[in-house]
Amino acid sequence: MSIYNKNRLAGALGAALLLPLAACGADKAPTPQALFAQVRALENGGALLPGSHLWMHGSRMVDYYTIDRANAIAVRAAAHGVHTVTRFPAGSLYIKENFDIHKVLKTVTAMLKVPGYDRADRDWVMAAYKPNGQVIAYGRVQSCISCHAIAKKTDFTFPSGVNLPIATVQKFFPGQAISPFYRAQLAHLAAPKG
Ligand code: HEC
Repeated sequence: MSIYNKNRLAGALGAALLLPLAACGADKAPTPQALFAQVRALENGGALLPGSHLWMHGSRMVDYYTIDRANAIAVRAAAHGVHTVTRFPAGSLYIKENFDIHKVLKTVTAMLKVPGYDRADRDWVMAAYKPNGQVIAYGRVQSCISCHAIAKKTDFTFPSGVNLPIATVQKFFPGQAISPFYRAQLAHLAAPKG
């Protein structure tokens, strides 16, 4: 066998060995830049997350207003509300656009379902970007996952209108200013109904 053929054989074997690896989720996760391209497509006209509306209120000053959007796969899965979904299908993508009090976009967070990517944590690729696409966080981001794990029943996604207690928000985002609107809203919810 010539050296040329040996190399060809080695190449073919290599390809066969690589196949099972290619089927593994970590390889199917897009690069942070490729994911941002999908995020941007949603920003420019993606459907709202079922049950949500424009200019919702976040808990902190850095997400004083939020807009939640989802791609077609996620919208279809959550057509009857996020609260009805226990497992989102492969390729589901959600974004949360975070605006300051002047409605200036500050950051965009995203979660993409990639089966096999992070089995212990429901296989979400978590990401956060500046509006220009600069990556703030990407991957199996523990700080995101450990809070989203509160929403275990709905596959680590929060139905819109969920109000985490201020102590929980402060635990995950120490030192960040809480929105006065959010405080007032929680106080209102806690008040006895007459
Ligand atoms: C303190 C808890 C907490 C942390 C930490 C957190 N989130 Fe969230 N996230 C929430 C809550 C509550 C909502 C729902 C309220 C809303 O949509 O404004 C939400 C909404 C979202 C949504 C919209 C889909 C949904 O579940 O409603 C995305 C996408 C998201 N977060 C991604 C991230 C990413 C990425 C990170 C890390 C960079 C992160 N989150 C960190 C609490 C958290």
